[in-house]
Amino acid sequence: ELFFVKPTTLAGKRILVTAGPTREALDPVRYFSNYSSGKMGYAIAEEAKKRGALVTLVTGPTALNPPKGVEVIPIQSAEELYEAVTTRFDRVDAVIKSAAVADYQPEEVLSQKRKKQASKWSVPLKRTKDTLKELGKRKNKQLLVGFAAESEQLEHYAKDKLTRKNLDLIVANNITEVGAGFDLDTNVVSIYTKDGQEKQYPQQSKKEVAAHILDELEAYAQRRDK
Ligand code: CTP
Ligand code: CA
Repeated sequence: ELFFVKPTTLAGKRILVTAGPTREALDPVRYFSNYSSGKMGYAIAEEAKKRGALVTLVTGPTALNPPKGVEVIPIQSAEELYEAVTTRFDRVDAVIKSAAVADYQPEEVLSQKRKKQASKWSVPLKRTKDTLKELGKRKNKQLLVGFAAESEQLEHYAKDKLTRKNLDLIVANNITEVGAGFDLDTNVVSIYTKDGQEKQYPQQSKKEVAAHILDELEAYAQRRDK
Protein backbone atom coordinates (compact mmCIF):
# COMPACT_ATOMS: atom_id res chain seq x y z
CA GLU A 1 0.00 0.00 0.00
CA LEU A 2 2.91 2.30 0.51
CA PHE A 3 4.00 2.07 -3.10
CA PHE A 4 1.11 3.77 -4.82
CA VAL A 5 -1.45 6.42 -4.06
CA LYS A 6 -5.09 5.56 -4.71
CA PRO A 7 -6.87 8.22 -6.77
CA THR A 8 -9.79 9.07 -4.49
CA THR A 9 -11.23 11.60 -6.92
CA LEU A 10 -14.80 10.70 -5.90
CA ALA A 11 -14.22 10.79 -2.13
CA GLY A 12 -17.46 11.52 -0.29
CA LYS A 13 -19.60 11.50 -3.43
CA ARG A 14 -22.77 9.42 -3.29
CA ILE A 15 -23.27 7.52 -6.51
CA LEU A 16 -26.19 5.28 -7.38
CA VAL A 17 -25.57 2.74 -10.14
CA THR A 18 -28.25 0.53 -11.69
CA ALA A 19 -27.25 -2.72 -13.35
CA GLY A 20 -28.54 -5.89 -14.94
CA PRO A 21 -31.87 -6.81 -16.50
CA THR A 22 -35.38 -6.46 -15.12
CA ARG A 23 -37.88 -9.33 -15.00
CA GLU A 24 -41.53 -8.69 -15.78
CA ALA A 25 -43.68 -11.44 -14.33
CA LEU A 26 -46.33 -13.24 -16.39
CA ASP A 27 -47.39 -15.82 -13.84
CA PRO A 28 -45.70 -17.41 -10.77
CA VAL A 29 -43.15 -19.26 -12.91
CA ARG A 30 -42.58 -17.05 -15.98
CA TYR A 31 -41.21 -13.63 -16.89
CA PHE A 32 -40.08 -11.43 -19.78
CA SER A 33 -36.49 -10.25 -19.62
CA ASN A 34 -33.40 -9.48 -21.72
CA TYR A 35 -29.78 -10.62 -22.15
CA SER A 36 -28.16 -8.05 -19.84
CA SER A 37 -25.44 -9.64 -17.66
CA GLY A 38 -24.92 -6.67 -15.33
CA LYS A 39 -21.16 -6.64 -16.07
CA MET A 40 -21.05 -3.00 -17.23
CA GLY A 41 -22.92 -1.68 -14.18
CA TYR A 42 -20.95 -3.81 -11.69
CA ALA A 43 -17.68 -2.59 -13.24
CA ILE A 44 -18.84 1.02 -12.83
CA ALA A 45 -19.87 0.41 -9.20
CA GLU A 46 -16.48 -1.16 -8.46
CA GLU A 47 -14.52 1.66 -10.11
CA ALA A 48 -16.59 4.34 -8.33
CA LYS A 49 -15.96 2.58 -5.00
CA LYS A 50 -12.21 2.44 -5.76
CA ARG A 51 -12.26 6.19 -6.36
CA GLY A 52 -13.70 6.76 -2.89
CA ALA A 53 -17.42 7.15 -3.66
CA LEU A 54 -20.23 5.88 -1.44
CA VAL A 55 -21.87 3.52 -3.89
CA THR A 56 -25.39 2.09 -4.00
CA LEU A 57 -25.94 -0.64 -6.56
CA VAL A 58 -29.58 -1.20 -7.57
CA THR A 59 -29.41 -4.47 -9.41
CA GLY A 60 -31.64 -6.83 -11.30
CA PRO A 61 -30.91 -10.56 -11.12
CA THR A 62 -27.34 -11.35 -12.26
CA ALA A 63 -24.80 -14.14 -11.78
CA LEU A 64 -22.19 -11.67 -10.45
CA ASN A 65 -20.79 -11.03 -6.98
CA PRO A 66 -21.30 -7.40 -6.02
CA PRO A 67 -18.09 -5.41 -5.40
CA LYS A 68 -17.00 -5.23 -1.75
CA GLY A 69 -18.09 -2.24 0.28
CA VAL A 70 -21.01 -1.34 -1.97
CA GLU A 71 -24.60 -1.10 -0.73
CA VAL A 72 -26.71 -3.57 -2.75
CA ILE A 73 -30.44 -3.11 -3.40
CA PRO A 74 -31.84 -6.09 -5.33
CA ILE A 75 -34.83 -5.47 -7.58
CA GLN A 76 -36.77 -7.59 -10.08
CA SER A 77 -39.18 -5.49 -12.13
CA ALA A 78 -39.03 -2.07 -13.80
CA GLU A 79 -41.58 -0.93 -11.20
CA GLU A 80 -39.32 -2.01 -8.31
CA LEU A 81 -36.36 -0.30 -9.96
CA TYR A 82 -38.39 2.89 -10.29
CA GLU A 83 -39.27 2.82 -6.57
CA ALA A 84 -35.71 1.98 -5.45
CA VAL A 85 -34.14 4.75 -7.53
CA THR A 86 -36.66 7.59 -7.20
CA THR A 87 -36.87 7.27 -3.39
CA ARG A 88 -33.07 7.62 -3.15
CA PHE A 89 -32.61 10.34 -5.75
CA ASP A 90 -32.64 13.32 -3.37
CA ARG A 91 -29.76 11.84 -1.37
CA VAL A 92 -27.26 11.19 -4.20
CA ASP A 93 -24.81 13.25 -6.25
CA ALA A 94 -24.99 11.13 -9.40
CA VAL A 95 -27.04 8.33 -10.95
CA ILE A 96 -25.54 6.04 -13.56
CA LYS A 97 -28.29 4.03 -15.26
CA SER A 98 -26.73 1.04 -16.95
CA ALA A 99 -29.65 -1.30 -16.15
CA ALA A 100 -31.44 -2.78 -19.16
CA VAL A 101 -34.97 -1.90 -18.09
CA ALA A 102 -37.93 -3.58 -19.79
CA ASP A 103 -40.02 -1.13 -21.82
CA TYR A 104 -43.17 -3.25 -21.47
CA GLN A 105 -44.71 -5.45 -18.80
CA PRO A 106 -47.69 -7.82 -18.97
CA GLU A 107 -50.96 -5.95 -18.40
CA GLU A 108 -51.85 -8.45 -15.72
CA VAL A 109 -49.87 -11.00 -13.73
CA LEU A 110 -51.69 -14.31 -13.48
CA SER A 111 -51.98 -15.52 -9.89
CA GLN A 112 -51.90 -19.18 -10.93
CA LYS A 113 -49.49 -20.88 -13.31
CA ARG A 114 -50.96 -20.76 -16.79
CA LYS A 115 -51.77 -24.23 -18.11
CA LYS A 116 -50.98 -25.18 -21.66
CA GLN A 117 -54.22 -24.93 -23.68
CA ALA A 118 -54.84 -23.26 -27.06
CA SER A 119 -52.20 -23.42 -29.80
CA LYS A 120 -51.40 -19.72 -29.34
CA TRP A 121 -50.94 -17.43 -26.39
CA SER A 122 -50.96 -13.67 -26.84
CA VAL A 123 -49.98 -11.52 -23.90
CA PRO A 124 -51.11 -7.89 -23.79
CA LEU A 125 -48.27 -5.65 -22.66
CA LYS A 126 -48.28 -2.14 -21.28
CA ARG A 127 -45.49 0.42 -21.00
CA THR A 128 -43.33 0.47 -17.88
CA LYS A 129 -42.36 3.70 -16.15
CA ASP A 130 -39.21 5.33 -17.53
CA THR A 131 -37.08 5.88 -14.42
CA LEU A 132 -34.39 7.89 -16.17
CA LYS A 133 -36.86 10.24 -17.81
CA GLU A 134 -38.45 10.89 -14.43
CA LEU A 135 -35.04 11.63 -12.87
CA GLY A 136 -34.37 14.08 -15.70
CA LYS A 137 -37.52 15.99 -14.74
CA ARG A 138 -36.76 15.96 -11.02
CA LYS A 139 -33.05 16.69 -11.01
CA ASN A 140 -31.49 19.77 -9.48
CA LYS A 141 -27.78 19.30 -8.76
CA GLN A 142 -27.52 15.59 -9.51
CA LEU A 143 -25.48 14.33 -12.43
CA LEU A 144 -27.37 11.93 -14.66
CA VAL A 145 -25.73 9.31 -16.85
CA GLY A 146 -27.80 7.23 -19.25
CA PHE A 147 -27.04 4.39 -21.61
CA ALA A 148 -28.23 3.88 -25.14
CA ALA A 149 -28.03 0.44 -26.70
CA GLU A 150 -28.85 0.83 -30.36
CA SER A 151 -28.75 -1.37 -33.45
CA GLU A 152 -28.83 1.54 -35.93
CA GLN A 153 -28.32 5.33 -36.09
CA LEU A 154 -26.31 5.22 -32.86
CA GLU A 155 -25.27 8.88 -32.70
CA HIS A 156 -28.69 10.20 -33.65
CA TYR A 157 -30.63 8.14 -31.09
CA ALA A 158 -28.03 8.65 -28.35
CA LYS A 159 -28.08 12.45 -28.71
CA ASP A 160 -31.86 12.36 -28.83
CA LYS A 161 -31.99 10.49 -25.49
CA LEU A 162 -29.41 12.87 -24.00
CA THR A 163 -31.67 15.88 -24.63
CA ARG A 164 -35.07 14.22 -24.22
CA LYS A 165 -34.21 12.74 -20.81
CA ASN A 166 -32.26 15.83 -19.65
CA LEU A 167 -29.02 13.87 -19.11
CA ASP A 168 -25.50 15.15 -18.50
CA LEU A 169 -23.80 12.28 -20.24
CA ILE A 170 -24.82 9.32 -22.36
CA VAL A 171 -22.88 6.15 -23.08
CA ALA A 172 -23.88 4.74 -26.44
CA ASN A 173 -23.07 1.39 -27.89
CA ASN A 174 -23.99 -0.35 -31.10
CA ILE A 175 -25.15 -3.80 -30.07
CA THR A 176 -24.57 -5.21 -33.56
CA GLU A 177 -20.85 -4.40 -33.43
CA VAL A 178 -18.35 -7.20 -32.67
CA GLY A 179 -17.20 -7.07 -29.04
CA ALA A 180 -19.98 -4.76 -27.90
CA GLY A 181 -23.13 -5.07 -25.87
CA PHE A 182 -25.02 -7.52 -23.73
CA ASP A 183 -23.40 -10.36 -21.86
CA LEU A 184 -19.82 -9.79 -23.08
CA ASP A 185 -16.66 -8.85 -21.15
CA THR A 186 -15.88 -6.09 -23.64
CA ASN A 187 -17.71 -3.10 -25.01
CA VAL A 188 -17.31 -0.51 -27.79
CA VAL A 189 -18.80 2.81 -26.72
CA SER A 190 -19.11 6.46 -27.54
CA ILE A 191 -19.69 9.07 -24.85
CA TYR A 192 -21.63 12.26 -25.52
CA THR A 193 -21.99 15.08 -22.99
CA LYS A 194 -24.61 17.76 -22.53
CA ASP A 195 -22.00 20.44 -23.26
CA GLY A 196 -21.23 18.95 -26.65
CA GLN A 197 -18.16 16.76 -26.09
CA GLU A 198 -17.95 13.49 -27.98
CA LYS A 199 -15.51 10.62 -27.60
CA GLN A 200 -15.25 7.28 -29.34
CA TYR A 201 -13.40 4.39 -27.78
CA PRO A 202 -12.02 1.20 -29.33
CA GLN A 203 -13.08 -2.25 -28.07
CA GLN A 204 -12.09 -2.46 -24.40
CA SER A 205 -12.85 -4.47 -21.29
CA LYS A 206 -15.92 -3.27 -19.39
CA LYS A 207 -13.58 -2.37 -16.50
CA GLU A 208 -11.64 -0.02 -18.80
CA VAL A 209 -14.89 1.42 -20.18
CA ALA A 210 -16.07 1.99 -16.59
CA ALA A 211 -12.93 4.03 -15.86
CA HIS A 212 -13.48 6.16 -18.99
CA ILE A 213 -17.11 6.82 -18.06
CA LEU A 214 -16.09 8.06 -14.60
CA ASP A 215 -13.19 10.10 -16.04
CA GLU A 216 -15.61 11.83 -18.42
CA LEU A 217 -18.16 12.38 -15.66
CA GLU A 218 -15.54 13.92 -13.36
CA ALA A 219 -14.25 16.18 -16.14
CA TYR A 220 -17.81 17.25 -17.01
CA ALA A 221 -18.59 18.01 -13.33
CA GLN A 222 -15.47 20.19 -13.11
CA ARG A 223 -16.45 22.17 -16.21
CA ARG A 224 -19.98 22.57 -14.89
CA ASP A 225 -19.04 23.64 -11.37
CA LYS A 226 -16.19 26.02 -12.14
N1 CTP B 1 -34.47 3.43 -18.87
C1 CTP B 1 -35.16 3.62 -17.67
N2 CTP B 1 -36.45 3.14 -17.53
C2 CTP B 1 -37.06 2.52 -18.57
C3 CTP B 1 -36.38 2.33 -19.79
C4 CTP B 1 -35.06 2.80 -19.91
O1 CTP B 1 -34.62 4.20 -16.73
N3 CTP B 1 -38.31 2.07 -18.41
C5 CTP B 1 -33.11 3.96 -18.99
C6 CTP B 1 -32.05 2.88 -19.19
O2 CTP B 1 -31.55 2.43 -17.95
C7 CTP B 1 -30.99 3.61 -20.01
C8 CTP B 1 -31.76 4.66 -20.77
O3 CTP B 1 -33.04 4.78 -20.12
O4 CTP B 1 -30.04 4.27 -19.20
C9 CTP B 1 -31.97 4.37 -22.21
O5 CTP B 1 -32.56 3.11 -22.37
P1 CTP B 1 -32.92 2.63 -23.83
O6 CTP B 1 -33.62 1.32 -23.77
O7 CTP B 1 -31.69 2.75 -24.70
O8 CTP B 1 -33.92 3.81 -24.29
P2 CTP B 1 -35.48 3.95 -24.26
O9 CTP B 1 -35.76 5.33 -23.78
O10 CTP B 1 -36.12 2.83 -23.52
O11 CTP B 1 -35.86 3.91 -25.80
P3 CTP B 1 -35.81 2.67 -26.85
O12 CTP B 1 -35.75 1.39 -26.08
O13 CTP B 1 -37.06 2.83 -27.64
O14 CTP B 1 -34.57 2.91 -27.67
CA1 CA C 1 -35.72 0.60 -23.94
